[in-house]
Amino acid sequence: MSKITAAITAVGGYVPETKLTNFDLEKMVDTNDEWIRTRTGIEERRILREPGKGSSDMAVPAIQEILRKKNMDASEIECIICATVTPDMVFPATANIIADKIGAVNAFGYDMSAACSGFLFALTTGATYIESGRFKKVIVVGVDKMSAIIDYTDRTTCIIFGDGAGAVLLEPNTEGLGIQDSILRSDGSGAKYLHLKAGGSVKPASVETVLAKEHYAYQEGQAVFKFAVKGMADVSAELLERNHLTGDDIAWLVPHQANLRIIDATANRMGLPKEKVMINIQRYGNTTAGTLPLCLWDWEKQLKKGDNLVLAAFGGGFTWGATLLKWAYDG
Ligand code: UT7
Repeated sequence: MSKITAAITAVGGYVPETKLTNFDLEKMVDTNDEWIRTRTGIEERRILREPGKGSSDMAVPAIQEILRKKNMDASEIECIICATVTPDMVFPATANIIADKIGAVNAFGYDMSAACSGFLFALTTGATYIESGRFKKVIVVGVDKMSAIIDYTDRTTCIIFGDGAGAVLLEPNTEGLGIQDSILRSDGSGAKYLHLKAGGSVKPASVETVLAKEHYAYQEGQAVFKFAVKGMADVSAELLERNHLTGDDIAWLVPHQANLRIIDATANRMGLPKEKVMINIQRYGNTTAGTLPLCLWDWEKQLKKGDNLVLAAFGGGFTWGATLLKWAYDG
């Protein structure tokens, strides 16, 4: 019997309609379009403005797009893994709320908290379910409503984040296509540079925590930047080396969209020209767990069966990693 690999067989995405441009931010904090564009590459980001709406409300249309494309009923989904740091609620898992909203009555699901590497970690986990032979239809969704945890008076942090969702369907493949290899890493000593101070079990929500703005993302940008440049580039280069590949063998780099300078450094290290790098940071900013699947969503039509893709991410935790996959269908 041929080996079972886990292939992405469909992609869906969703970004809210409301745009928050650099020029809008100029009116909110002491910043300017030129600084944001040259330091990050971002021009605008999407914001989920409607009150009472959360991450599940973006994940649902992304998954429904997959169901439409595959002419598939939600009851066929066996598992939903939702990568997010902005769940609808602390519990239950947003994956369960999503399952209920789309009618995935036969699916089990849970959330994965690995910040910007969340989608990559969830993809690897979902792939092992498929590779085991036990499951045949796994949804992996990366979604974040970063606007829910951003302090729009903190100019260094508020300019980079946005809201959005992307999802993929994983199915078994016997032609050797799909996920080939992954290197995933975590280092909890990096937590001090990027975290949310209150609302967890160490510091439950109180009037004091709200007044101290401790429910917003805290980021020491420069420190994170340094680790991100090295982490994402190192792991991507290591992945190529251990699979005996060079930049010439790679059709696309799919990098986490946190800062254009981090993306450029990773591409350079891998010996990849800009034309082979998916970049949509200018339109969406950093959607945390949403960036990688949103790239696949935007580039789906250009992808060809057999293309080698490297997905790479770095984020809070610290968490980072890279995944090599062979695309399974013509876009
Ligand atoms: O998503 C996963 C994890 N996150 C990341 O990967 C993000 C990594 N970090 C970054 O992308 C960058 O560090 C930022 C975009 C967040 C900040 O850029 P930076 O080039 O590291 O800026 P900085 O914090 O070193 O600040 C440089 C200067 C400072 O002024 P002085 O002290 O040199 O006079 C800041 O006060 O730029 C100033 N500055 C700004 N000026 C205009 C900081 N933010 C702004 C701003 N507009 N929005």
